[in-house]
Amino acid sequence: NIHLIEKPPQEHDALIATLPLEPVYERPFSIGHPLRLYKGVWMGEKILRGTLVMQQCFKSRPTDIFLASFPKSGTTWLKAMIFSILARANCSLDTHPLRSLNPHQCVPFMEVEFATGRSKIIEVIPSPRVMNTHLPYFLLPDSITDSSCLIVYVWRDPKDVLVSMWYFVQKILGGPDKIATFDQFYEFFCQGVDTFGPIWNHILEYWEESRRRPEKILFLKYENILQEPVKYAKQLARFIGCPFSETEENQRVVEQIVELCSIKKLKDFDVNKDGDRVMSSMDVRISKGYFFRKGEAGDWKSHMTQEMAERLDTLIKEKFKGSGLQI
Ligand code: A3P
Repeated sequence: NIHLIEKPPQEHDALIATLPLEPVYERPFSIGHPLRLYKGVWMGEKILRGTLVMQQCFKSRPTDIFLASFPKSGTTWLKAMIFSILARANCSLDTHPLRSLNPHQCVPFMEVEFATGRSKIIEVIPSPRVMNTHLPYFLLPDSITDSSCLIVYVWRDPKDVLVSMWYFVQKILGGPDKIATFDQFYEFFCQGVDTFGPIWNHILEYWEESRRRPEKILFLKYENILQEPVKYAKQLARFIGCPFSETEENQRVVEQIVELCSIKKLKDFDVNKDGDRVMSSMDVRISKGYFFRKGEAGDWKSHMTQEMAERLDTLIKEKFKGSGLQI
């Protein structure tokens, strides 16, 4: 609704302009908005703008569900899953909204909505609302962390996150010659210079919070969901308070939802094909197809030397040490 869209907020721009900028390189490694270092986190300027407004203004509802993730960790997939689990009573599979809408059009991305003056759209969504965020836990608005809202967190092997991000940025910038080389990208990632990086802090914080409040934060791993999607779809449904009934299980509703949300199926819908089906997100043109690439575990093997993989693994293991979390 056009009447709900306001001018993008600018009240924090002076502060943002004073923050450290990403290292300058001959070819960029972020998607067009320079990264700024805010409280130890690298964030695109506009996302940061949205974040600061959101921290001040966002009012959660007790029934809200947040999908939190580091970018390229399975956000699109989990958006589709949560959305279709919640909407299953009202949506037939033949005319399902996911056939004509990209999952990102079904579940709003909070920082972007706030950055683009569209926060009122979030206010008018009926409960229970589902929204996603890439913010680290400590930057979430108090209205979320002090509430009874549910958070689903999905994480993924950082090596595959890095590969996935490299391709995503490459597509947005217009090809492999427009982006930093994979080796440069890797070096920055290992230094934590990446949108919402460092990745290890992001994962660890949600992990620790999920151990403190397991009934409020569900901590899932992309690779595990790939292996047993039906099991995790059921776990998701229980967690968000709408478990599958025995009748539904007998009618194989879980399997149907899993299939609808599979990358093979989603990628095939016209709406998700590369080309003109673009979501304009803060001056960046993102084709809806860019969110679907391989959807596999272990693609890093085709991009990294064994030495690079071991170095990144060692770094992550070192960061996770003592937390009980294994990669
Ligand atoms: P790859 O680039 O490794 O293929 P995000 O949604 O957080 O941006 O993550 C994008 C990654 O999730 C991409 O990984 C993409 O292919 C994968 N993905 C998207 N939809 C998926 C689905 N339905 N099932 C599994 N993986 C999916």
